[in-house]
Amino acid sequence: MAPTALALILGWWLVAASGEQKLPRPSLSLHPSQGIEVGDAVTLRCHLPRLDAWVWLYKGGLRTYRKYKDKEQDTAEFFLSPNWEHTGSYRCQYQLYWTAETSELSDPVELVLTDHSFPPPSISLSPAKRVGTGTNVSIQCWNQGYGGSFLLHKDGCSAPIQCQELLGEDKATFTILGVTPADSGTYRCSYRPWAQRFLSSPIGNNVTLEVAPTPAPPGAAGRSHGIPVVAVVGGCSAAFVFILALVAFFLLAARRRRMRRDESPGAPAEKPEDEEFQAASSDSEGLTYMELQAVTPGAQPPNPAVDPQPSVIYAEVAAGRRR
Ligand SMILES: *[C@@H]1O[C@H](CO)[C@@H](O)[C@H](O)[C@H]1NC(C)=O
Ligand SMILES: *[C@@H]1O[C@H](CO)[C@@H](O)[C@H](O)[C@H]1NC(C)=O
Repeated sequence: MAPTALALILGWWLVAASGEQKLPRPSLSLHPSQGIEVGDAVTLRCHLPRLDAWVWLYKGGLRTYRKYKDKEQDTAEFFLSPNWEHTGSYRCQYQLYWTAETSELSDPVELVLTDHSFPPPSISLSPAKRVGTGTNVSIQCWNQGYGGSFLLHKDGCSAPIQCQELLGEDKATFTILGVTPADSGTYRCSYRPWAQRFLSSPIGNNVTLEVAPTPAPPGAAGRSHGIPVVAVVGGCSAAFVFILALVAFFLLAARRRRMRRDESPGAPAEKPEDEEFQAASSDSEGLTYMELQAVTPGAQPPNPAVDPQPSVIYAEVAAGRRR
C-alpha cells in the first residue's frame, strides 16, 4: 500500500511540477555485466520512477528500441541475444505518456562481447607470498602484442576494479597501495585489444593475494620499501595511545598532589627536568615495567623537603607477544 501511495504522490508531484522541475534521471544496468559471449541472453534494465512512460534505449547516440512501461513497474527491460552488431555503448531515456515530457539520458553502459580469438592475458603478483597489512602490492598483466586496455577483476566483484589504457605497450601494472585483509582474494585480468573497444579477451588465469592482519615484519623491508616503520606504528598505535593516556593520567594526578602540598611560592625558578626513563626490566612473570620519574613540568621545582620520595610510576608495557 505504502509504495503505491508514494508512487501516486510522486507521480502527481512530477506532473504538477513538470513545468519547472526536471524529471529524475533514469539509470541503466546490464545483466550479466561482463563475460558475455555471442548468443548469451542479456538484459538491459532502465530504472525510472513509477510513471506511465515510453522508454527509449539509445545505442551510440541513436534511438534503437522503444518500450511502454506503466506506473506499476519501476524498470523497463530490453532483452538481447547479442551478436557483434549489438556491442556498444547504451543509454536510456523516458518520455511521460501524458505530457510527452522527456527525461535526460542515463549514464552509458557498455555491452562488451568476449572474443575467444584473442588469447587470455598472463598475470603475475608481486610480492608473491602472503603479505602483511600495509604492503604495496603490484599485479602485472600482459598480452602478446594486442595492446589496448587492461582490466583487473576480483572474484566476487561484478565490475572490474581497475582499468588501465596502454599506449604502445603490452603490459599493465596495477598497484594496490597499503593492502588490508579486505584486499585478500583472487584476481584475474582481461584486455580489450587496441581499436576494439567493445570486444574483450577471455579472462585469464588467477593469482591469489593473501593479506595477514598483522603489519609487514621489518625483515620484509627489502621488497616493500620503508613500510615496516609506518605499518608497525599504525598497528600498535592503539596500545601506545592507551599506555600514554595511562601515564598522562598518573602524571597529572601526581602534579595535582604536589601543587596542593607546595607552600613555598618564592622559590627561584629552575629549568624543569625532563621525565627520566629508566631501563625497562622484566620480572619473573614475564611482565615488563617501565619506571617513570614523575617530575612536575612547571616553573616551580619539586620541594625535596616536603616530598622526599620521588613518585615512581610503573606502566605495564606490552613488549612482544606472550603465549
Ligand atoms: C586459480 O588457478 C589455479 C591454477 O592456476 C587453480 O588450481 C585454482 O582453482 C584457481 N582458483 C580459482 C579460485 O579459480
Ligand atoms: C607505497 O606507495 C606509496 C606511493 O607510491 C609510497 O608513498 C609508499 O612509501 C609506498 N610504501 C611502501 C611500503 O613501499
